[in-house]
Amino acid sequence: MWPGSLSPEEIPASGMHYISAAPDYLWSLTMWMKPILLAAFASVASVAAAPPGFPASGNGLWYPAPGAIWSRDYLPVGNGYLAAMTSGGAAQEATQLNIESLWSGGPFQDPTYNGGNKQPGEQAAMAIAMQQYRDAIFASPTGDIDNIDTLDTDAGAYGSYIGAGYLVSSLNITGKTTNYARWLDLDQAIARVTWSQAGSAFTRETFCSHPTQACTQHISATGVLPPVSFAFSSVLENGLPTPNITCLDSRTLRLRGFAGTPGMVYEMLGRVRSTGGKVACTPVAGSSPPNATVAVTGRASAAWISWVGGTEFSQDAGDAVHGFSFRGPDPHATLLALLAGPVSTASYTALRAQHFADVAAALHTFTLDIGQTSQLSTSTDELIEAYQVDTGNPYLEWLMFNYGRYLLASSARGALPANLQGKWALDLATPWSGDYHSNINIQMNYWSAEMSNLDVTLPLFTYFEKNWAPRGAYTAQVLYNISRGWVTHNEMNIFGHTGMKASDNSAEWANYPESAVWMMLHVWDHFDYTNDVAWWKAQGWPLIKGVASFHLDKLIPDRRFNDGTLVVSPCNSPEQVPITLGCAHAQQLIWQLFNAVEKGFAASGDTDTAFLEEVRAKRDVMDKGVRIGSWGQLQEWKVDQDSPSDTHRHLSHLIGLYPGYALTGYEPVTQGGLLVNGSRTTYTKSQVIDATTTSLIHRGNGTGPDADSGWEKMWRAASWAQLKNSTEFYHELTFGISENFGANLFSLYNPSQAVPIFQIDANLGLPGAILNALLQAPDVPSMTTPLVITLLPALPDKWPSGTIKAARVRGGMTVNLQWKNGKPTSASFHADANAVPRPVQVVFGNKMVASFTTSAGLRMTITSF
Ligand SMILES: *[C@@H]1O[C@H](CO)[C@@H](O)[C@H](O)[C@H]1NC(C)=O
Ligand SMILES: *[C@@H]1O[C@H](CO)[C@@H](O)[C@H](O)[C@H]1NC(C)=O
Ligand SMILES: *[C@@H]1O[C@H](CO)[C@@H](O)[C@H](O)[C@H]1NC(C)=O
Ligand SMILES: *[C@@H]1O[C@H](CO)[C@@H](O)[C@H](O)[C@H]1NC(C)=O
Ligand SMILES: *[C@@H]1O[C@H](CO)[C@@H](O)[C@H](O)[C@H]1NC(C)=O
Ligand SMILES: *[C@@H]1O[C@H](CO)[C@@H](O)[C@H](O)[C@H]1NC(C)=O
Ligand SMILES: *[C@@H]1O[C@H](CO)[C@@H](O)[C@H](O)[C@H]1NC(C)=O
Repeated sequence: MWPGSLSPEEIPASGMHYISAAPDYLWSLTMWMKPILLAAFASVASVAAAPPGFPASGNGLWYPAPGAIWSRDYLPVGNGYLAAMTSGGAAQEATQLNIESLWSGGPFQDPTYNGGNKQPGEQAAMAIAMQQYRDAIFASPTGDIDNIDTLDTDAGAYGSYIGAGYLVSSLNITGKTTNYARWLDLDQAIARVTWSQAGSAFTRETFCSHPTQACTQHISATGVLPPVSFAFSSVLENGLPTPNITCLDSRTLRLRGFAGTPGMVYEMLGRVRSTGGKVACTPVAGSSPPNATVAVTGRASAAWISWVGGTEFSQDAGDAVHGFSFRGPDPHATLLALLAGPVSTASYTALRAQHFADVAAALHTFTLDIGQTSQLSTSTDELIEAYQVDTGNPYLEWLMFNYGRYLLASSARGALPANLQGKWALDLATPWSGDYHSNINIQMNYWSAEMSNLDVTLPLFTYFEKNWAPRGAYTAQVLYNISRGWVTHNEMNIFGHTGMKASDNSAEWANYPESAVWMMLHVWDHFDYTNDVAWWKAQGWPLIKGVASFHLDKLIPDRRFNDGTLVVSPCNSPEQVPITLGCAHAQQLIWQLFNAVEKGFAASGDTDTAFLEEVRAKRDVMDKGVRIGSWGQLQEWKVDQDSPSDTHRHLSHLIGLYPGYALTGYEPVTQGGLLVNGSRTTYTKSQVIDATTTSLIHRGNGTGPDADSGWEKMWRAASWAQLKNSTEFYHELTFGISENFGANLFSLYNPSQAVPIFQIDANLGLPGAILNALLQAPDVPSMTTPLVITLLPALPDKWPSGTIKAARVRGGMTVNLQWKNGKPTSASFHADANAVPRPVQVVFGNKMVASFTTSAGLRMTITSF
């Protein structure tokens, strides 16, 4: 993913990402020159330590001044369904809002939208074109061709994830602000602002609760509150058509708008409650379209608004039966029902306590300690500012690890998976549409999920089932002339976009029919981690079978090398040409997918043994995508044409290093025996690892004009950890942290810009990379291959002692690990009640410290290493 894949109108113009059309009272929020802001606040408030109430462990982000730039300063809260960004305003706070399914485009904009696909009548022409491209590749002296332009289709009404406007909450108060602080508490998943003004101390709290699917903002004072008002504003959200805002009842705002002209309908309801005082909803006189505000007056000591939001989008209508309409019922009734629950009946304290309990269960079963010492007297912006490559700071690294998991749990637990910005997006043109780039970015989002015990993946799988598979079957048929299974390409929206998206040099961006193959490995992983047979039968297996079926038909005999193998063609590496045959990335992924089919067949209950046998047969003869080239590199393409100076951002051909296993777990017997220049060749595992290392070194450190954002570095960090190289792991981790994150610890595409672009992948990839340095248990090709659990494979010197509690590994096991002076002191394993027997080896250093076979409920502890 890089700006080349942004169409010009998608590139945020400088200045667009802060509130430019703000009324006067928001001026303080729009000042983006930090020094001025800090100076202004420093003169009235000097906070030299984290505010009272900040977690003593240091598990939070805090700042002595309000935020100015959305992507760099605002603090995120969310429950998966809704998201919000708070600037930490005092007397006025403008909280920017999101609803997870609020997208422009799709059939709501264009009723003829067909997922960026060819028309049915084009099937024969496509089959012929495909054949011609293949012939050309096999006949080409270089093995390459220039383009496959006939196959792609204009993206049409692809649309974009968009912002839902702002909630403006105002206190009618003037006077100097002192004792100001704002923070995000990661223990409790709540944002807070405190300050003193006109003789009172104020606290504003904002959180989004998963159980109630609502967000709440609460303002309280030590004395009586001045008059409080709550309003929704679309004015501040660039490009959003002005919605109708009315009083649903005396305390509830009702907002209804369209996501474009035309676009889907969305609605938000905001109900206001108070302790003491009087609540009244009043239409804004003379406003067209209608507008309204809710005021709390009289002797209130606290006032709060809870809002719920939804759209008419429905994944249940994303198939042929529903005409791919993606249109569900009007959201109003559902929102009313949500509003009638605890949001209106429970006390604020009870509502908040319910949220804390949910967060504790969802997020804090797992814990990590890397020997960090909290630095409560340094604000988070100063911590990140001072952070340096290699020197690092275990406290900040730990904090960012927790933050990554917080962001995933706060964005992935809705009906849709976490997108390129989680669920936090501003305005009408989210960079890269805030979509699902599935060639590393979405995968990286979920790297830490299974191992760090986060139950967040099911919406991802449901999205594949309901959004990808139905239209993907049509694409398989019309574009590939393949009548079983389904396919997706590089980038997906929420409207079943499955075609090859035409753009400049389309193959580079569009020709990625392996996106679903990679994602299916996440599906397999979920089963491997949980042994949840009921889920596997109902959802996991059908998904995997669909994708594998398609690729059984798509693999073709290699007519260039004539070595008896099956290859993909035309192929290119994600976001990188040449267009050629037998691309290592694709071959490795498909091989791993076929292994997953074999491993999961028995549990699936499927009786289609012909399918299993076909998978086995084709897997055995297919090219495995593991080939060592002329300069000792792991070849990216079957034709040896890698450039030693190619520092491309993607590590596509090293997919089998991390997160895959085709390289890491290389087995000469099953993966060797290549025909090279007429004779059979089998590498040793160490030859493959050496070639992989050579390629990783040549790929550079994840920098350069087109490759300098955070995710490149997190991918490299995880890869170095896989190679058990703690120095390089820590170098890449610290390099990424020092270069690519903002004051709010958001991963920024272009951090030096005044208004940088947020992309969440490095935030979410970071915990995965860190875990990979501490605990590894990569997948294996067969259930009889021992699962190797490596303890502290790439532990940096900076984390000499620490603890992991309740990590999960494959085979349905929970792992606790403690280490001291760089060595484990205790490692315990507890297999789930439904764990199935499988061989396990536990390794530390180069030594196997234990080996056992899992069984249901098995407990074992190792204390000697
Ligand atoms: C398309 O698929 C059908 C059915 O498998 C096959 O008969 C036909 O030859 C294919 N068309 C081309 C041009 O390959
Ligand atoms: C704010 O308070 C002032 C002084 O009490 C009053 O004149 C004004 O009408 C109030 N404004 C709002 C919006 O309530
Ligand atoms: C509604 O009125 C409030 C208060 O005047 C204002 O802040 C808000 O921007 C208005 N909303 C819209 C959608 O214009
Ligand atoms: C807003 O109100 C206008 C006028 O009544 C109506 O035409 C429009 O459909 C409404 N918008 C929404 C999203 O309901
Ligand atoms: C295969 O043969 C070609 C042509 O003789 C030669 O350039 C190449 O180095 C050989 N490759 C290997 C791996 O031996
Ligand atoms: C990253 O690689 C570039 C290019 O080789 C080099 O100039 C730079 O010093 C490296 N930076 C770090 C922090 O490794
Ligand atoms: C880690 O990788 C670097 C760069 O290739 C290498 O110089 C160093 O020896 C490696 N360290 C280990 C422990 O393998």
